[in-house]
Amino acid sequence: ERPVRVLGLEASCDETAAAVLDGQGRIMAEAVLSQEAEHARFGGVVPEIAARAHLAALPGLAARVLDKAGLGYGDLTAVAGTAGPGLIGGLIVGSGFAKGVAIARGIPFFAINHLEGHALTARIPGLLDQPPPAFPYLLLLLSGGHCQCVAVEGVGRYRRLGTTLDDAVGEAFDKAAKMLGLPWPGGPHLERLAAQGDASVVALPRPLLGRQGCDFSWSGLKTAVAQRVAKGDARAEDIAAGFQAAVAAVLADRAAHALAMFPAATAVVVAGGVAANGAVRAALARAAAARGVPMLAPPLRLCTDNAVMIAWAAVERLHAGLPADSLGHAPRPRWP
Ligand code: KG4
Ligand code: ZN
Repeated sequence: ERPVRVLGLEASCDETAAAVLDGQGRIMAEAVLSQEAEHARFGGVVPEIAARAHLAALPGLAARVLDKAGLGYGDLTAVAGTAGPGLIGGLIVGSGFAKGVAIARGIPFFAINHLEGHALTARIPGLLDQPPPAFPYLLLLLSGGHCQCVAVEGVGRYRRLGTTLDDAVGEAFDKAAKMLGLPWPGGPHLERLAAQGDASVVALPRPLLGRQGCDFSWSGLKTAVAQRVAKGDARAEDIAAGFQAAVAAVLADRAAHALAMFPAATAVVVAGGVAANGAVRAALARAAAARGVPMLAPPLRLCTDNAVMIAWAAVERLHAGLPADSLGHAPRPRWP
């Protein structure tokens, strides 16, 4: 029996990533190439530029990661690619590359749902400074593309409890940051600006706070920021602080509702770029503690898009005895 060696590939948005994991989830090698610089001057991700950049970068990146792991393609026992949701061009590049490896080496191919990758990352052994979460747990996925509460009941067993009615929370950060004259992606810049401000100076709405369920909505808050900026009577740092406080309060409220809807949850796991935000983390930790469960967040480099999570989802599926996917599996831009 050859030892388990899984290559994971991710190209669903603006990060090109590859990783090799062994059967215990040990990260043998990984790399992420960000296209941020290529998209920054457009103020957002341009799909056609993203697809071409993935195509140019992926073969070299995969070869480098295998090399770092001391492996060749012939040592792999399975290959996994993100097959959705995301930008179709990148999905075709990433999952198509994975299928090519599967065909060439005669190994199983796993078509991984990007959200499943985020959902399972915290379970990689040795990643957290506490034991990995056991099923079931609540996932809060807070990124530039997603804003969801998900009940994670087992490998391949997910239930969406709530989602955004308009923007993703990272998008709301980026749009508010843009209004305040900050560069894209604005979330981290807005957090730094907010640290200089006073959250109590500019009162902003807290959409859906206290409302039943755990859906999200950010458009009203965004409009309020635009109006306040236009009015010109408040300092940018106070608007930033007010915005961040409103977002953190809403997220904590929605998490509390999600836990009430899903009392079996043993932990709250946070993933996505917005999980980097200190105010957001603190508010969510309080909401989790109020219900007696820990809040867990993977290290930041694994909270944002990466290929470790894609390889790990395949390792979890192998352990759970779930079947590989057909080479005819078509990429899905929408895949709830
Ligand atoms: O997960 P991610 O890297 O990419 C995807 O969207 O899949 O998330 C990126 C988002 C951006 O909207 C970015 O502004 C936001 O996460 N973000 C933050 C912070 N760091 C990144 N938002 C608020 N505070 C931060 N410190
Ligand atoms: Zn993501």
